[in-house]
Amino acid sequence: MKLNFLLWAPCLSILHVTFALVNPILPGWNPDPTILRVGSDYFLATSSFEYFPGHPIYHSTNLVDWTLIGHALNRPSQLSLFGTPSDAGAWGLSLRYHNGTFYLASTVRYVYTYELRQFPRSFFVTTRDIFSNDWSDPIYFNALGYDPDLFWDTNGDVYNTWSGNNNPIDKIYGIYQNKIDITTGNSLTPAELIFTGTLPDNSSARPEGPHVYLINSTYYLLIAEGGSGPEHRSTIQRGPSPSGPWANNPANPILFNGANLSLPVQWTGHSDFVEGPDGQWWGVALGVRPQTIGDFNHIQLGRETFLFPVTWENGWPVYNHGQPISTEIPGVLSDKPHVSEFFDDFNDTTTDTLGLSCYFLRTPYKKSYSLTARPGFLRLNGNSFALGDRDNPALVLHKQSSYEDTFETVLDGFSPTSNLTEAGATIFYGDFAHNDIAVTGKADGSGERVIVTRTIVPAQQVGPWALTTSNNTVTTVTYTPLKTKSDPVKLVIVGKPTSYSLGFAEGDDTNVTFTTTFDSMSMSVPPVNDFFFKGAAFGVYNTGNSKPTLIPADFAYWKQTPGT
Ligand SMILES: *[C@@H]1O[C@H](CO)[C@@H](O)[C@H](O)[C@H]1NC(C)=O
Ligand SMILES: *[C@@H]1O[C@H](CO)[C@@H](O)[C@H](O)[C@H]1NC(C)=O
Ligand SMILES: *[C@@H]1O[C@H](CO)[C@@H](O)[C@H](O)[C@H]1NC(C)=O
Ligand SMILES: *[C@@H]1O[C@H](CO)[C@@H](O)[C@H](O)[C@H]1NC(C)=O
Ligand SMILES: *[C@@H]1O[C@H](CO)[C@@H](O)[C@H](O)[C@H]1NC(C)=O
Ligand SMILES: *[C@@H]1O[C@H](CO)[C@@H](O)[C@H](O)[C@H]1NC(C)=O
Ligand SMILES: *[C@@H]1O[C@H](CO)[C@@H](O)[C@H](O)[C@H]1NC(C)=O
Ligand SMILES: *[C@@H]1O[C@H](CO)[C@@H](O)[C@H](O)[C@H]1NC(C)=O
Repeated sequence: MKLNFLLWAPCLSILHVTFALVNPILPGWNPDPTILRVGSDYFLATSSFEYFPGHPIYHSTNLVDWTLIGHALNRPSQLSLFGTPSDAGAWGLSLRYHNGTFYLASTVRYVYTYELRQFPRSFFVTTRDIFSNDWSDPIYFNALGYDPDLFWDTNGDVYNTWSGNNNPIDKIYGIYQNKIDITTGNSLTPAELIFTGTLPDNSSARPEGPHVYLINSTYYLLIAEGGSGPEHRSTIQRGPSPSGPWANNPANPILFNGANLSLPVQWTGHSDFVEGPDGQWWGVALGVRPQTIGDFNHIQLGRETFLFPVTWENGWPVYNHGQPISTEIPGVLSDKPHVSEFFDDFNDTTTDTLGLSCYFLRTPYKKSYSLTARPGFLRLNGNSFALGDRDNPALVLHKQSSYEDTFETVLDGFSPTSNLTEAGATIFYGDFAHNDIAVTGKADGSGERVIVTRTIVPAQQVGPWALTTSNNTVTTVTYTPLKTKSDPVKLVIVGKPTSYSLGFAEGDDTNVTFTTTFDSMSMSVPPVNDFFFKGAAFGVYNTGNSKPTLIPADFAYWKQTPGT
């Protein structure tokens, strides 16, 4: 072995191999990253919207290999998403550590509708063992706003800093702050506007995502601004106290890929940074990877988490040596890709719990699945809710993590008794954007089966954002007969950079019949008055389409294979 290494070493130097940091480090939607280091352990947490459980926590000791270790909000008492609209739910967050306790500050928007114009009260949860997956119930702040950040000053004062607005009508956003009692969350001082951002102070500016730091006796205020789209950026200020007054960094914005819309990573911002044990600093930010360069119609994986080196010049942090954030940052870390196959044959009968990377839509009223009822299968017990309902259908989701990603499962022995009984697979964004291929029965109750394919695409439109409310989406439903009443049916979803194809194969047939191919724009562009905060996930479901159903749906395996 030693000889091999010696033979290889000169080759490597001749080839001038340079390692690169491969981004995104968390492929698949993972917005609003916040990073923390305790000893030699790095922790990263992201937002999760109406998915349950909420706020995934990732762990790494080398910044290359990241493991999902749990979720800060994993009990209904922490995250009650009942009737929560798409893209409300668990928003921007801040992960911090003080004197043996981990703190995750966050905001959950239970509703997000036009008659409700106020922000909810933000909160924090705590744990002393972040690996336990056991966090406290929420401790609420008094103030209204979102993106809360906790900061401990050297004298013991604790500050909450968040994004709020002047009033719920004009909605001019700003960074607000007060001192709080960390045992109760209660305010000790009135909320004060401490910063209005570097952009013109109107409702477009959106200063948000604040983080306060104390570094070498100087206080810093890092924010996101410009809104969550192409103008999104990171800017930083410094001052003599946690509240300012702030001196502007002449190099602002310190992150703004939107200055060049041809760059392969866009919407960059909402960053956080941390010092490594070796004194090297690192930052994380969100970004999207447009698959059609120059527009945002094919960003179905949503906002992902990117990592970059941070250096210091004249007392200011410099992101990625002043270069835009890219998918490969040469010379640092290792060039290990972060995408891998996801496979579960559901054969482990020692557990009746799905893996941490599987999600549900909103808070489950009760468990809708079993891994032990029929050993070797994921059994979904369907309920009345269908995928477009603003409720909790029997649906298991797993994020799509590569723009080329093929999902495959086998639905075994599903025998629907009517056209209301339906089980299958979906490529899912939210209530208004999901595309399904499923097995259902004929309306006559004969037990004969059909494949139902349902695609939801944005209605005909002038520009990508110019839909009318009356015809936001067009749903196309097609039926393809199946030959048998109970043979296994393989369901396949092929994800490509700008399209998805849905297909099936019955029984021993090795040929997959594709019933539709559609533009992935319908998974990237929200209907008017809707949002695009999440990204795509593959899912399996079982529904009675508004009626209870007693027919279980058994899935033999779950396979997600990334393309090259
Ligand atoms: C740190 O935590 C310990 C144990 O909980 C507690 O006794 C101590 O008062 C805390 N110190 C500070 C500065 O909060
Ligand atoms: C805010 O100001 C910017 C720069 O002047 C302008 O482009 C934008 O349209 C303004 N937005 C609103 C809502 O007034
Ligand atoms: C903090 O100060 C020390 C001592 O002057 C210096 O070595 C270090 O680089 C400084 N750190 C930052 C982030 O500026
Ligand atoms: C913008 O980015 C593209 C893609 O990297 C590059 O080819 C082009 O030179 C950049 N334009 C400017 C003005 O930097
Ligand atoms: C998993 O279970 C299925 C169904 O019982 C069986 O066909 C398959 O061989 C099992 N796989 C392994 C690796 O044991
Ligand atoms: C089921 O069939 C009935 C009768 O043809 C029809 O009215 C109904 O819309 C169908 N429902 C579904 C969910 O396909
Ligand atoms: C959407 O609505 C507009 C206005 O009512 C109408 O002109 C257009 O044809 C509709 N488009 C579709 C695809 O239904
Ligand atoms: C698979 O499909 C191809 C092309 O449609 C066809 O030629 C072939 O006979 C099919 N094979 C089977 C086993 O059905």
